[in-house]
Amino acid sequence: MRLAGTFLTAAAAITGAAAAPGTTTLGPRQQSSTITVDLTRTFQKMDGFGFSLAFQRANLITNMSDKTKQKELLDLLFNRTTGAGFTILRNGIGSTPNSNSDFMNTIAPRNPGGPRATPQYVWDGKDSGQLWVSQQAVQQYGVKQIYANAWSAPGYMKTNNNDANGGTLCGVPGASCSSGDWRQAYADYLVAYIKFYAQEGVPITHLGFLNEPDYTASYASMRSDGNQAADFIKILYPTLEAANLTSQLGIACCETMGWGSAVNMINSIRSQGQEGRLKTVTSHTYTGGPSSPMNSRNPVWFSEQCDLNGQWTTSWYSNGGAGEGLTWANNVYSAVVNYNASGYLYWEGVQWPNPNTNEKIIRVDNRTNTYEVSKRLWAFANWSRYVRPGAVRVGTSGGSGVRTAAFKNEDGTIAVVVISTTGSAVNVSVRVSGGGTPIYAQAFVSDNTRNAASTPATLGPDGTVSGQVAARSITTFFILPGARKS
Ligand SMILES: *[C@@H]1O[C@H](CO)[C@@H](O)[C@H](O)[C@H]1NC(C)=O
Ligand SMILES: *[C@@H]1O[C@H](CO)[C@@H](O)[C@H](O)[C@H]1NC(C)=O
Ligand SMILES: *[C@@H]1O[C@H](CO)[C@@H](O)[C@H](O)[C@H]1NC(C)=O
Ligand SMILES: *[C@@H]1O[C@H](CO)[C@@H](O)[C@H](O)[C@H]1NC(C)=O
Ligand SMILES: *[C@@H]1O[C@H](CO)[C@@H](O)[C@H](O)[C@H]1NC(C)=O
Ligand SMILES: *[C@@H]1O[C@H](CO)[C@@H](O)[C@H](O)[C@H]1NC(C)=O
Ligand SMILES: *[C@@H]1O[C@H](CO)[C@@H](O)[C@H](O)[C@H]1NC(C)=O
Repeated sequence: MRLAGTFLTAAAAITGAAAAPGTTTLGPRQQSSTITVDLTRTFQKMDGFGFSLAFQRANLITNMSDKTKQKELLDLLFNRTTGAGFTILRNGIGSTPNSNSDFMNTIAPRNPGGPRATPQYVWDGKDSGQLWVSQQAVQQYGVKQIYANAWSAPGYMKTNNNDANGGTLCGVPGASCSSGDWRQAYADYLVAYIKFYAQEGVPITHLGFLNEPDYTASYASMRSDGNQAADFIKILYPTLEAANLTSQLGIACCETMGWGSAVNMINSIRSQGQEGRLKTVTSHTYTGGPSSPMNSRNPVWFSEQCDLNGQWTTSWYSNGGAGEGLTWANNVYSAVVNYNASGYLYWEGVQWPNPNTNEKIIRVDNRTNTYEVSKRLWAFANWSRYVRPGAVRVGTSGGSGVRTAAFKNEDGTIAVVVISTTGSAVNVSVRVSGGGTPIYAQAFVSDNTRNAASTPATLGPDGTVSGQVAARSITTFFILPGARKS
């Protein structure tokens, strides 16, 4: 048996210790449910898992004066060994002229005098605390997907002369303004924001020009239908091309409140011939989720999900409540396996205690410099640590009393995510077909008492990986296959 160096490195990265591979002896024959992973049956490619720190939540990390705790927070979010290992960060592009309340300030606070006047960009080097966290994510943790998403254009570019309360970008169909056509100015402004980030060492990879365009909020918000979005893409895309940005980033659209509006908007964008200019299709599910996968060739992200209503909980499982860890392990499962999601993002990574809801994954109190981690973080860890960007989902079959999803990572490792569906533990055997025979396996469990803790996995002489999936747990088997036998 020979371990390829790269695989050993991958395993060591995960355990945080030198991997001590080897064949463990298989115990006496036990009842087990067999899960077959078929590497030849392939589905969507994964982009990964993430969260946002928009509306100055990033400041809770960036301003944290206790540097040990600051590092702990970054590790909890981005570290693949000790935290969730998130791989997508969604930042808000500010549209407000000031930073009052939790507003995100814009780089173009003043109307230069019209859409053709020379814009007056102002870069504060903070971007509501998001720049520093982005720099840490990229430089320290190797995060490669930085998503910049505007909730609105600056107010003077809109029909209602306000970045809040809806309104529409001046110049798109049905939105004419006495101030003129601001479409090109808005595209130029988005490019200017990307260039400020590039100067600071952060390459933005995804750009969104709308957020919840099907909803009018009392904070930054801008309405758009699919036809209007398509019209703006016809200006934005060539502007990105002219700025030589299309190899670095792509357009994400449309961050709708619900899946139904996403379907309608993407259909309009397609009928306008603009779907091919998108990199990613994004939707929230606050006003309704999917009943079938999105009809799009683009990767689909569930780009903002959370439990907005429940009281803050750190529970893994108590009664199946909307904020519990196991609920989120299953929510991700459903999006990925049933609805073809390539990306899955929670709403806020961190937030202060008020409101004391599950909008955030970690609750940070900046008055006391303390924080509390919800089990949702560990539900995401079970996915994000092992299902890496570029992983391809592959077929699974069998397995009673469990839900399964399997992925082949770009480095050849295989992640098999198993969630128990009953209140009992299940012994499982995982067989991999269509590729090499497993030569090294590890398993990790999250449940009421454990957070992505190592749990025994045995490797049989025939390459079958066996282990136990605890009651109401998510257990991930991480497998290194040997050379392909052909
Ligand atoms: C599962 O395996 C454990 C040992 O790994 C054994 O003690 C237990 O009896 C098995 N359970 C079933 C249902 O076979
Ligand atoms: C972070 O610091 C800025 C000043 O740089 C301040 O305006 C903001 O309120 C602070 N936010 C938090 C959450 O500490
Ligand atoms: C992630 O955590 C491990 C284990 O504590 C540590 O060795 C490593 O330096 C951390 N990574 C970063 C980028 O801080
Ligand atoms: C365009 O961008 C690519 C990749 O970011 C870079 O390699 C190339 O040098 C750029 N070309 C120009 C003309 O700036
Ligand atoms: C799943 O998404 C991929 C893009 O990530 C797309 O090519 C494929 O057609 C989608 N499959 C279904 C069933 O929608
Ligand atoms: C805590 O955060 C809030 C919200 O950003 C801010 O108003 C306040 O000044 C911060 N307090 C401290 C002590 O940093
Ligand atoms: C999954 O989440 C559980 C529950 O908190 C945790 O004990 C376990 O270690 C996690 N597993 C992985 C692979 O991250």
